[in-house]
Amino acid sequence: MKLTPKSVALIPIIATVATAAFGATLIAPPAANAATTLGAAAQQSGRYFGTAVAAGRLGDSTYVGILNREFDMVTAENEMKMDATEPNQNQFSFGNGDRILNQARNQGKRVRGHALAWHSQQPGWMQNMSGTALRNAMLNHVTQVATYYKGKIYAWDVVNEAYADGGSGGRRDSNLQRTGNDWIEAAFRAARAADPGAKLCYNDYNTDNWSDAKTQGVYRMVQDFKSRGVPIDCVGFQSHFNNNSPVPSNYQTTLQNFANLGVDVQITELDIEGSGSAQAQKFGNVTKACLAVSRCTGITVWGIRDSDSWRASGTPLLFDSSGNKKAAYNATLDALNAGGTGTDPTSTTTTTTTTTTTTTSNNPGTGGCTATVSLNQWNEGFVATVKVTAGSSALSGWAVTATVSNATVTSSWSANRSGNSGSVTFTNVDYNANVPAGGTTEFGFQGSGNGSGLNPSCSAR
Ligand code: G3I
Repeated sequence: MKLTPKSVALIPIIATVATAAFGATLIAPPAANAATTLGAAAQQSGRYFGTAVAAGRLGDSTYVGILNREFDMVTAENEMKMDATEPNQNQFSFGNGDRILNQARNQGKRVRGHALAWHSQQPGWMQNMSGTALRNAMLNHVTQVATYYKGKIYAWDVVNEAYADGGSGGRRDSNLQRTGNDWIEAAFRAARAADPGAKLCYNDYNTDNWSDAKTQGVYRMVQDFKSRGVPIDCVGFQSHFNNNSPVPSNYQTTLQNFANLGVDVQITELDIEGSGSAQAQKFGNVTKACLAVSRCTGITVWGIRDSDSWRASGTPLLFDSSGNKKAAYNATLDALNAGGTGTDPTSTTTTTTTTTTTTTSNNPGTGGCTATVSLNQWNEGFVATVKVTAGSSALSGWAVTATVSNATVTSSWSANRSGNSGSVTFTNVDYNANVPAGGTTEFGFQGSGNGSGLNPSCSAR
């Protein structure tokens, strides 16, 4: 907002209306029908708002109260990593991961899995391995963990932080990288085979600035994977910001350019060091950037209260150490309530020949649900996002049949699938079986060829 003499004169009036927590940011009070929690506000535009959760804090009633109230997606902060889930080779340990997953699912929240393969937080036995033995151990880990959680994970960070910082734009050196450049795609293929219903993401930090060599390196990898049919569905931008690593002015452009490759983008570990209105404005801007990109499907903050953060001294989160909402919370909630445009009018579409058309089919369905499809078609392929809407009764399971006449389905997520062409049926996975009356859930699939005429129909099961 530009402060003209007239608007300055209005400050006392606005200040009496806005709560003190808004501080110096002049934010209008929420509209009467605005959502009052982060998760509900994000859902208005079909997105989620999540947080990292630490198993050790699940006994803290303030922490759990905020978690249950505000968030609709959960990431285990450390408990699904390689050292936690396979402390001894071929001996798996899912106790703490399960505590987080079950707490989330019992509250109707979804779960992002973090992370299947990473150079860091490897168990001791893996750290000194190399060559074929390490490659096989890594693939076995990916397979075992993704299989154990099959049907329960919305999206997996399959590979985390594989690119080097600095100007090289290349891979980071690590024991996994030294097993051969194809280790990342091998991990993605193993994850897809183990849990075809989960979206598969590449996740990294310092990839927010479109001009950075690291961003470009990851972009080229995703472009290459898409062109060769390596199963990748999403890219996670960790987005750990502070004065040394500020929110770049081209952040939205970065998100949009990756989305244009035909993947979802997600903000996966957001925290922004600072305080007061300056911090609030940055959280608001990051949220607006996601909402301006139709394939930015959600935001996760890396912890609940400042005191829960891996860098607590930077007070980088939305709740103070006592659990009170900060100005940053209000700015984020307001940006979510302002809604998403579904398109990104300001960013440059630099790279692909993608054209996005949305076709909608709204068949009555035979058993109390309808299905609509949004199609993103480019020259050789497409991504279809299907929304299932329950009728006047709640669903405890659903099936959607689509006609795939001039294409072949190559992958799908958040649904089980029979077949890849002709009449293809998708059924719910565990976590999206229950849809309340009038409620919605989404799944998607990707294909080569022409995805027009899908004409989906929905039935309850
Ligand atoms: O649980 C033990 C405790 O028993 C012990 O007394 C204490 C002594 O150091 O360590 C505790 O474990 C720590 C663990 O966090 C739980 O608090 C580890 O030392 C510490 O290394 C670990 O840090 C985590 C870090 O990843 C490790 O790389 C942070 O919690 C976690 O927030 C952070 O998350 C990463 C993402 O996975 C990837 N992106 C960056 C992000 C921030 O670094």
